[in-house]
Amino acid sequence: MPAREHRVFAALYDLIGRRAERGPMGARRRELLREASGRVLEIGAGTGANLPHYPALSALTLAEPDGAMRRRLAPRAAAAAFPVEVLDAPAERLPLADASVDAVVSTGVLCSVDDPARALAEARRVLRPGGRLLFIEHVRAEGRRARLQDRLTPAWSAMCGGCHPNRDTVAAIRAAGFAITALRRLDDVPAAPWIRPIVAGVAVAPAGGG
Ligand SMILES: C[S@@+](CC[C@H](N)C(=O)[O-])C[C@H]1O[C@@H](n2cnc3c(N)ncnc32)[C@H](O)[C@@H]1O
Repeated sequence: MPAREHRVFAALYDLIGRRAERGPMGARRRELLREASGRVLEIGAGTGANLPHYPALSALTLAEPDGAMRRRLAPRAAAAAFPVEVLDAPAERLPLADASVDAVVSTGVLCSVDDPARALAEARRVLRPGGRLLFIEHVRAEGRRARLQDRLTPAWSAMCGGCHPNRDTVAAIRAAGFAITALRRLDDVPAAPWIRPIVAGVAVAPAGGG
């Protein structure tokens, strides 16, 4: 997979999300990340929007393949109150051992990866049996709104770092073999109509790996 940079998207990312992060999105991140403990891997960590919301962890690894995002992420990671490592790695190819983490965090990432099935298989591989995938993702809608998402996806994806509003990510998580133990819609988080619904959830990796 070639190295990539979405410089404009990375430069605008914090600005675009600023209001939501100070309000409901920040609150929902904090609620989700309360569930994180032990050795945690975050995929597609972006500029580090989750960092202020983690509880104290024994180790946090932030994987981010986009250099423009990583340049914003690195100083924030260095300022964290616990050990944080930043890796240049796509979710589809994680340089981590099998069953080596207790939780994988994905927020707004499975819409953007090149291959969601492969990314989820990698998350399963690196999670210990019983380890958890903690996610906040915007997902495919139903009916007319889904068809609108299909039409808008090519242009939106080009503008927003490869984001696909029309992915049925909850189905993909189940298809990857995870058992979803908590799932709720975040209707209070502001977003354009074509990047709704947004869901938060917890999915457990089965015993026996991938
Ligand atoms: C919408 S941003 C979300 C950033 C961050 N997770 C957050 O919650 O603010 C999507 C992120 O996914 C990253 N991304 C895109 N393709 C990826 C891939 N194949 N593997 C991992 N991350 C990827 C992008 O570089 C970007 O940082």
